[in-house]
Amino acid sequence: MNFHILTLFPEMVMNGLNTSIIGRAVSRDLLSIDAVNIRDYAFNKHQSVDDYPYGGGAGMLMQAEPVYLAYKAVEEKVAKRKLRVVYLSPQGDTFTQKMAEEMAQEKELVLLCGHYEGIDERVLEEIVTDYVSIGDYVLTGGELPAMVMVDTISRLVPGVLHNDVSAEFESFQDNLLEYPQYSRPEEWRGKKVPEVLLSGHHAKIEKWRREQSILRTKERRPDLLEKCELTEEEREFTQKA
Ligand code: ADE
Repeated sequence: MNFHILTLFPEMVMNGLNTSIIGRAVSRDLLSIDAVNIRDYAFNKHQSVDDYPYGGGAGMLMQAEPVYLAYKAVEEKVAKRKLRVVYLSPQGDTFTQKMAEEMAQEKELVLLCGHYEGIDERVLEEIVTDYVSIGDYVLTGGELPAMVMVDTISRLVPGVLHNDVSAEFESFQDNLLEYPQYSRPEEWRGKKVPEVLLSGHHAKIEKWRREQSILRTKERRPDLLEKCELTEEEREFTQKA
């Protein structure tokens, strides 16, 4: 999968994404991340990309043309067809695991990061296909949200995680949170690992984990529990717990 991030701060996104699992996936050619500097497409000699908003008001706006040219350069280079373009904005739909799964099917994904007070509406109308927010709070720019999206989507690309099954059995799959996990030592500062996990009895372990997931979801995210599919037995267990 190929990400193209249109930004005024390319080094910020590249530095944030070149380490750990994502960095390794890039070096293994499972992903590519290309940060396109919008300033390279400025059309005046000062290389400025922002201007005052018509009608007045606080702050500056990113101008339409440099953003448009930066996008067009990507389109021309990779596909010569209209690409899916996500504009990161607090006005967008809230990013979810389901959206990540759907976007992970794309071959090319363009992420547009705004700064200052935003971007001239006309270029958004022209190129943006999706408006996405990462939550109800306001950041100084779209770079951190773009990094959140790249990270979330990338780990769903086959081969990126060591263990292909692990992306399937975890928080939000099935709308259940993940069960608690333990590693060595068996006893740490007086706290013991739950007995069942040492039993080697796989069916019992699976049952315990499923119950712990349900309990944890009920306690921490009751809103999710309403959406998940439980057996009759599990429903009873949830009510009693
Ligand atoms: N830009 C500024 N705040 C944002 C948010 N919460 N989500 C996406 N993009 C943003």
